[in-house]
Amino acid sequence: MAPTILLLGFILTFSSTIHPNTALSFKEAPKFYNSPNCLGQDDPIHIAMTLDSTYLRGSMAAILSILHHSTCPDNLRFHFISASSITTNRDLNRTIATSFPYLTYYMYSLNDSTVSGLISTSIRSSLDCPLNYARNYLSTLLPNTVRKVVYLDNDVVLVDDIAKLAATELGEEAVLAAPQYCNANFKNYFTPSFWANPALSMTFEGRNACYFNTGVMVIDLERWRKGDFTTKITEWMELQKRMRIYELGSLPPFLLVFAGKIAPVDHRWNQHGLGGDNFNGLCRDLHPGPVSLLHWSGKGKPWARLDAGRPCPLDSLWAPFDLLQTTSSLDS
Ligand SMILES: *[C@@H]1O[C@H](CO)[C@@H](O)[C@H](O)[C@H]1NC(C)=O
Ligand SMILES: *[C@@H]1O[C@H](CO)[C@@H](O)[C@H](O)[C@H]1NC(C)=O
Repeated sequence: MAPTILLLGFILTFSSTIHPNTALSFKEAPKFYNSPNCLGQDDPIHIAMTLDSTYLRGSMAAILSILHHSTCPDNLRFHFISASSITTNRDLNRTIATSFPYLTYYMYSLNDSTVSGLISTSIRSSLDCPLNYARNYLSTLLPNTVRKVVYLDNDVVLVDDIAKLAATELGEEAVLAAPQYCNANFKNYFTPSFWANPALSMTFEGRNACYFNTGVMVIDLERWRKGDFTTKITEWMELQKRMRIYELGSLPPFLLVFAGKIAPVDHRWNQHGLGGDNFNGLCRDLHPGPVSLLHWSGKGKPWARLDAGRPCPLDSLWAPFDLLQTTSSLDS
């Protein structure tokens, strides 16, 4: 009996830590106004993010930071993608509507069964949450009238105008732009059996294939739809189910389809790795150069470290955008 009870205890603890934010309440954000410079500029800027209970606090801070640094906040259109539970979506929508009463946004749900059949078990199972694959489906989830979108992870904070990021040049052919890193060891993202199979590894032949970060992307949805890239990504995911060609979650299929063919986003828009890596308590510094977007990629999240009373120095840049209603502010 004893092992069963222990296991049950573990499951209960685990499930209560995995949805810590469902009961959280958030403050109302102020209203933001277009600056006089926006007169005559009414092209909307479309932004897509996922929304889930676990990272809700991060998403709220990201939205606030975008509004706060935008010259024309009224021109922003947010597209939120969540998983398919109706009750959770109602709660998420209520949170957004209450904290951002002036925001123009749309909610979509990703049909879990579309994705779950394609996900293979990976080493870090948190990367295999269906919502991580939402970025593959933006072209079908968002209406056809949306021709270009900025996709952002929910562990980011912007300290610059998102209009500049949205204006990234895609050139004649690129379907997407993302921060790219040619010094990263690209080979590691794929298994030895991938590289050993010429029919597979020739995918990268003649391409200057570099790693890129899919947490900050500018996507031309018209080109994406025309090239049916959702299907191309899905085909690699289907192959992965049959033979293991890569290790980590949603990134490798993007690399397979797009690496070497993307337009670069200036690295200032992805000051990444601020979550640190797997070593407990290791704080990261900024990379050299200017900063427009801070990205807490990695295991550590600023809200968790702040709550634990053990923040990293750069977490103080995230804190001003935290909309969580603390007990003391509820009291006052
Ligand atoms: C979200 O909440 C707002 C405000 O209550 C409501 O007007 C809107 O219809 C809701 N949207 C969805 C998709 O449920
Ligand atoms: C989700 O996808 C499955 C399989 O494609 C389909 O049977 C189901 O009706 C879809 N659910 C919704 C709510 O669209």
